[in-house]
Parts: sequence; C-alpha cells; structure tokens
Amino acid sequence: MNDALIHLFIQLISSRIGLQVRPQDRTALSQKILTRMKAIKLALPEKYYQLLTERSLESQKEWRQLVLLVTTNESYFMRDKGQFSLLEKVILPELIEQKIKLKKTLGIQPTLRLWSAGCSTGEEPYSLVILLKQLISDWSEWKILVLGSDINDAALEKAKRGIYSEWSFRLVDSQVQSRYFKQHKNEWEIDVNLRHSVDFKSVNLVSDNFPNLYNNIYNMDLIVCRNVFVYFEAKYISIVLKKFAQTLKPGGYLMTGHAELHGQTAGEFKPKIFPESVVYQRCDLQKMNSAPQIRPQSGKP
Ligand SMILES: C[S@@+](CC[C@H](N)C(=O)[O-])C[C@H]1O[C@@H](n2cnc3c(N)ncnc32)[C@H](O)[C@@H]1O
Repeated sequence: MNDALIHLFIQLISSRIGLQVRPQDRTALSQKILTRMKAIKLALPEKYYQLLTERSLESQKEWRQLVLLVTTNESYFMRDKGQFSLLEKVILPELIEQKIKLKKTLGIQPTLRLWSAGCSTGEEPYSLVILLKQLISDWSEWKILVLGSDINDAALEKAKRGIYSEWSFRLVDSQVQSRYFKQHKNEWEIDVNLRHSVDFKSVNLVSDNFPNLYNNIYNMDLIVCRNVFVYFEAKYISIVLKKFAQTLKPGGYLMTGHAELHGQTAGEFKPKIFPESVVYQRCDLQKMNSAPQIRPQSGKP
C-alpha cells in the first residue's frame, strides 16, 4: 500500500476511534487492513477506504471488525494495586459517606454511579463491584450502577460471560478469588450476582455522544478510564475529557492510568495527588479561573 494511502487510513482511524498509529506500527496496520480486505473480498485498498468513510450499515459492520484487529485488550482484576487501594480506602468510602449523609439529611435513597470506560473483558468493572460489595453492607437499600463499556464487541462478549483464566487473577488475593468466583477446571466463573451487577454497553468514547440520558450515561460519581488513553492521539484525549467532565456529577472523580493525561489541559478537573495515584475531580466550573496543565506524578512512568 502506498504511503499516502496508509496515511489517510491512519487519519481516518484516529478520527473515528482515537487510536494513535505510531510509525513503527504502520506495517502491522497495513497487514490488518489487507486481512480485512481479503475477508470481505475487496481487491483495492482505495475501495476499502471508501467503505470505511461511508455512512452505511455495511460500513458500521466493517468498523466493528476492524476494531477487533486494532485495539489492545489486555486486562486483569485489581490491575494496579496502588490505584485499587486508593479506590478502596479513600475514593469509594468518601463517595459512600456523602450518599449516606444525603440519606440522613434529605431522606434520599443512596445511589452510586460508576463507569469503567474502556473496560475490555470486564475485569475492571467486576473489580469495582467486588470493592463495593466489601464496603456496602446494606446493598439492597442502594441504587447502584456499575457500567462497563468498550468499543470491542468480542471483549464485551467475554466480559458478559464472566469466565476467566488464572492469568486474570495475578493480583487477586486467593480468598477474594474463591469468594467471588467458582472454579471449573482451569477457568473461573464470576458469581452470578456479581455478573448481574455490571451493565455492559458498546460505547465508542470518541464518536459517541455522552452524557446521554437514553444510554444511562450521565451523572457519574466515578469514571475509571485506565490504559485506554495510552493508545490515543492527544487531540482525541482532550475531546473525551470534555465529555467525561460533563458526564460526571460536580465533585465526581476521574481515574486514568498513570501519566495518561500528561500535557493535557485540566479544564474542568482539579488534579488531587495521592501517594498511589493522581485522580481528577470535576470542580465547580465557576470556581475555575485558570486551567492548570496536568503533569505526570514523579516516580511514575
Ligand atoms: C488495554 S485495555 C484496558 C482495559 C482496562 N481498562 C484495564 O486497565 O485493565 C484498552 C481498552 O480500550 C478500548 N478502546 C480503545 N479505543 C476505544 C474507544 N475509542 N472507545 C471505547 N473503547 C476503546 C479497547 O477496545 C480496549 O478494550
């Protein structure tokens, strides 16, 4: 494939799904495009490019297939001990406490709305539910949403099945593993109640609109979007950040992977620095006079 055409593909893919194709990944991308052309029996890459730019069902269907080849879906339970400890010990208890106060003062049923954006095969949202189960004893009194979304349909299917190999548990305490999972030979199946506690949806963070009442993506207390922006072009990180800010409640938190927002403008977020990680709190827009730059935490990659 000639250089000009591969460049067009790279631009198109970035603008649709945010992915940054590095110079060293160009050959691999060409191979993936050729694989898809073969699968749908197209001889010319120009025709394939045209198909991807169309507004048709066929084009949407093809994007879903291409996404399977260009996304990276590595995930595991409690990925990053420090960040999960921060969630367990600080962030979630603070959110839970606020809701309990509201219940006591205004009689409002406590709600919690958490979103794992770019959840891949589901380990991240299920890890969040496990933490919540340990922190909330009167679960039935609460209205809790844990949403897991991804752009990769195969990853979402696996997430919905909730069956994992030992490798997904590399950071999980064995007691937690046997409490919430049932072993079948070499695989572990998540407890059915836990499985039903997560709502999985297909969402393209770059091209889909949110907040979105229709999709139940609004008023989030916490958005966890980790190891997703690391693959993104800066321009599209900034677009998604604006949508995240609007999707969080004022005071709600965004957690990304370490240093994934380096060089981004904080905008509506106030970085809060903890020894384990930075988290970004949506602040009251009127109080923000200037937008600080987000710098990486020292000692983190
Ligand atoms: C490496 S996984 C991270 C999984 C999990 N958050 C974790 O940290 O273990 C990155 C995920 O982001 C998803 N992703 C990439 N681009 C996306 C987009 N534009 N919209 C939604 N999800 C996207 C990929 O499909 C992939 O499953």
